[in-house]
Amino acid sequence: MTAQKIPSLHKVYQNYFEIGAAVNAKTVETQRDLLIKHVNSLTAENEMKPENLQPEEGKFTFETADKIVRFAKENKMKMRGHTLVWHNQMPDWFFTTQSGSKVSREQLLDRMKTHIHTVVNHYKDDVYCWDVVNEAVEDKGTDLLRKSPWLEIIGKDFIEKAFEYAHEADPDALLFYNDYNESHPEKRDKIYTLVKSLIDKGVPIHGIGLQGHWNLEDPHLDDIRQAIEKYASLGLQLQLTELDISMFKWDDRRTDIKEPTEEMLEKQTDRYEKIFALLREYKDVITCVTFWGFADDYTWLDDFPVEGRKNWPFLFDENHEPKQSFWKVVRDL
Ligand code: GLA
Repeated sequence: MTAQKIPSLHKVYQNYFEIGAAVNAKTVETQRDLLIKHVNSLTAENEMKPENLQPEEGKFTFETADKIVRFAKENKMKMRGHTLVWHNQMPDWFFTTQSGSKVSREQLLDRMKTHIHTVVNHYKDDVYCWDVVNEAVEDKGTDLLRKSPWLEIIGKDFIEKAFEYAHEADPDALLFYNDYNESHPEKRDKIYTLVKSLIDKGVPIHGIGLQGHWNLEDPHLDDIRQAIEKYASLGLQLQLTELDISMFKWDDRRTDIKEPTEEMLEKQTDRYEKIFALLREYKDVITCVTFWGFADDYTWLDDFPVEGRKNWPFLFDENHEPKQSFWKVVRDL
């Protein structure tokens, strides 16, 4: 199959939703042609996270993220912003004073505001939406919010403050709450409760990001559908922000599989076909589907949760050739 005969994924999906990929400084080079052909939206995998944009207080380092933004612009792709407030990949200084003690609520709000204002303002012309708060909801038990320095120091209004600061900095940006395990009923209901409470308070929030770190069996298709319906009932737009279909279930810690088996590939093909058919049904509420990477030569899952174990979660293989799953996803469209 020659490259010309392969349809462009984002063009095939132009009447449904945008097609995105998470990239880093390396993959914009190694996957350049593939990305240019198939995606019309980009997310920086790590480059816009606080530890990379403000490694020291007041010292903003935009260079690497700017390169990704330039690549997006040159190729007429939209740019998502990811992420402003998260419990991971925060620089250490953020939560401590110079003398090493914990910052006060006022100091932390001040730091949050400066970070959000500076970053959102810097990307005002280029980034059309932000994952403002990432993964604030607790997976298990009765607590709504996960324990984090944000919650502990500021209190639960840290979430609304983050959205307010982002809105102040760019009133035109679409602001998202983004989370994983978003289709599991227990977490889904908590995310719904959180977002509904924000809407009820008049907080500027415009979308929910369903990360979509899924595998061959989990979550069940019906649960994905119910999650989409429940979130959509809030009247916000939805995006799949970090889609990948791992070959391994979460508790499968095998290390001896060096290439995907036929069975794995078949299951993955079937899963992608069904998932995209489902997503297409909801094209009125889903505005973008972003893969967390784009081809099997690079995925964060190569190291997670089993260090050094290869994974093959995408529609394109390690040589950037379309897999069977790709053909099912574009079939009859
Ligand atoms: C989360 C984050 C992403 C990324 C992935 C794993 O889902 O939102 O930024 O770090 O984990 O790579």
